[in-house]
Amino acid sequence: MSNPSLLILPGDGIGPEVMAEVRRIIDWFGAKRGLEFDVSEDLVGGAAYDKHGAPLHDDTMAKAQEVDAVLLGAVGGPKYDDLDFSVKPERGLLRLRKEMDLYSNLRPAQCFDALADFSSLKKDVVAGLDIMIVRELTSGVYFGEPRGIFEEGNERVGINTQRYTESEIDRVARSAFELAMRRGKKLCSMEKANVMESGILWREVVTRVGADYPEVELSHMYADAGAMQLTRWPKQFDVIVTDNLFGDLLSDLAAMLTGSLGMLPSASLGAPMANGRPKALYEPVHGSAPDIAGQGKANPIACILSFAMALRYSFDAGDEAARLEDAVNAVLADGVRTADLLGEEGVTPVSTSQMGDAILAKLDASV
Ligand code: NAD
Ligand code: IPM
Ligand code: MN
Repeated sequence: MSNPSLLILPGDGIGPEVMAEVRRIIDWFGAKRGLEFDVSEDLVGGAAYDKHGAPLHDDTMAKAQEVDAVLLGAVGGPKYDDLDFSVKPERGLLRLRKEMDLYSNLRPAQCFDALADFSSLKKDVVAGLDIMIVRELTSGVYFGEPRGIFEEGNERVGINTQRYTESEIDRVARSAFELAMRRGKKLCSMEKANVMESGILWREVVTRVGADYPEVELSHMYADAGAMQLTRWPKQFDVIVTDNLFGDLLSDLAAMLTGSLGMLPSASLGAPMANGRPKALYEPVHGSAPDIAGQGKANPIACILSFAMALRYSFDAGDEAARLEDAVNAVLADGVRTADLLGEEGVTPVSTSQMGDAILAKLDASV
């Protein structure tokens, strides 16, 4: 049988820097654990625009549809701020999500023990935190029609449309209930049913799907109250399911519970392919971090943990995923910190590649 295939799209800014560390880790699993991948690499975002005049070439899109999983770094940056909206780097990522139909975006927020002191919240609020946000990723206000900037009388109007069909809500709800079944069996759905019809439908459909999962304790919260509860006492949550835009905001918020945006991975999953694996794209939650790009300061952990999610969700290698997560944990416990994780007196930050070295050393020690 041929090796599973991985398409790597490093993208822009710190994307290529953090992805370089992931590539070393992928090589390690090939050499030391017999987990070999056929890896190909291509351009996305501003890097693709620079070469092709579009943030995602059709050939790259086609490749993404064929491989077992895509691993993406980050896209965007100030260099591309003035580009026409249709060719902005972010459009490349949105096209991948939409055309691969990656409707279920898993964004875990886990507080590593060694970082509990580092969160901007009190230690007892975040220590041991382990929640999973399931963000709907292919619909809602990100994609709804009509959209655009139009002339209206003597001024312009900017329009985006929040739109959800029952089937779109049903499928993402099911994926969240399935996850809850494998975790703490608690699901909180967040919308704004008090002011939005799409929220009323969301609540109704999630409740209906819940009838198929009687073991899962389902609750509902308005998303604004949810944001408040996430900072007040985040450990009340197990799995949260929410729409595309609320999920974007709430997952950045949840990231800071864990200490840094540089720590948070994500998996974007679609329907199963012919081989039974879900269509999948893995990427850190953070962006291209233009403020630190090119300086060797970026924390590669979010991207490395995104590969761990790939091992778990695409390659049935949950044990190896845990090995990698344990290695990250051990490195943090040793006090190894990239600059985004500083806060303790007298600790000198390590570079992106030194963080990679430290994680590889722990992996070596694990076999
Ligand atoms: P950002 O996530 O790039 O950066 C926010 C802050 O977090 C910055 O101070 C940055 O230095 C820090 N940070 C982020 N990742 C880090 C890491 N791995 N290590 C250390 N520090 C890290 O968000 P932004 O500044 O709002 O956006 C910059 C660009 O990235 C924009 O063009 C945006 O559209 C894009 N973006 C892309 C993605 C993606 O590719 N999935 C996600 C978010 C933002
Ligand atoms: C994210 C990002 C993206 C989003 C952008 C870059 C398109 O913020 O992945 O969270 O808004 O979904
Ligand atoms: Mn975001």
